[in-house]
Amino acid sequence: MNAEPWKSADEVRAGVDFPDAVAESLVALARKRITEQGHFTLTLSGGSTPERLYRRLAEPEWRSRVDWTRTEIFQGDERAVGPDHPDSNWGMAARSLLDHVPIPPGRRHRMEGERDDLEAAAAAYEAVLARTLARDGELDLVLLGLGDDGHTASLFPGTAALEEDSRLVVANAVPQLGTRRLTLSYPALRRAREVWFLVTGEGKAEVAAGILREGRESGSPASRVHPVQGRVVWWLDGPAGRHLGA
Ligand code: 6PG
Repeated sequence: MNAEPWKSADEVRAGVDFPDAVAESLVALARKRITEQGHFTLTLSGGSTPERLYRRLAEPEWRSRVDWTRTEIFQGDERAVGPDHPDSNWGMAARSLLDHVPIPPGRRHRMEGERDDLEAAAAAYEAVLARTLARDGELDLVLLGLGDDGHTASLFPGTAALEEDSRLVVANAVPQLGTRRLTLSYPALRRAREVWFLVTGEGKAEVAAGILREGRESGSPASRVHPVQGRVVWWLDGPAGRHLGA
């Protein structure tokens, strides 16, 4: 753990053994929350970084350590595609983890990126998320990634979703990608007990250091994730944490 007072983070773990260090802590948190409240809500990040973590958690000696029947899955964001599309975040999570663990169907909450009306898809997802928040108050663990432009989930620089201050889930036009996405908003991310940024690879080292040293001054969307009562933990492997004393 690093002693430097970080902005935009409560704790920075740089130079970790990824994904095993994260998997260990996730298993411990899941067990703790299941003991305390009878279930564990896990919000999955997309992109490529978390796939190694999901695959690790699906391995027999790891998956047996979590009561997946008491785990509820949400998504942080989704592309405007169906689950069978190669770009689908749900599809990646299903292949690497969800198809290998016994999460009850009613506890698997997929964003319907395939719908023509993405606003309706966002509203439908918000209704499910709102019910969980009404029951629990907060999401137990939200996993997030980091783009080299400082985006997280599908909160990209200069996009309308950054200004959303009430809805929990929005359809967000991302001109820099020429596409639209479904994404949790900052109001949703404020309702997390734990937010974990998972950052690997040398290509993320600069943007991560900028966010952690400058906070909102960095101008990066990822710097604006601030849970009301929860904690933000950054997990960086050696190359990604090379400017942070890793
Ligand atoms: C997505 C993710 C996105 C991702 C970052 C990092 O839908 O792509 O939600 O926010 O976490 O773009 O992606 P990599 O892990 O592939 O570098």
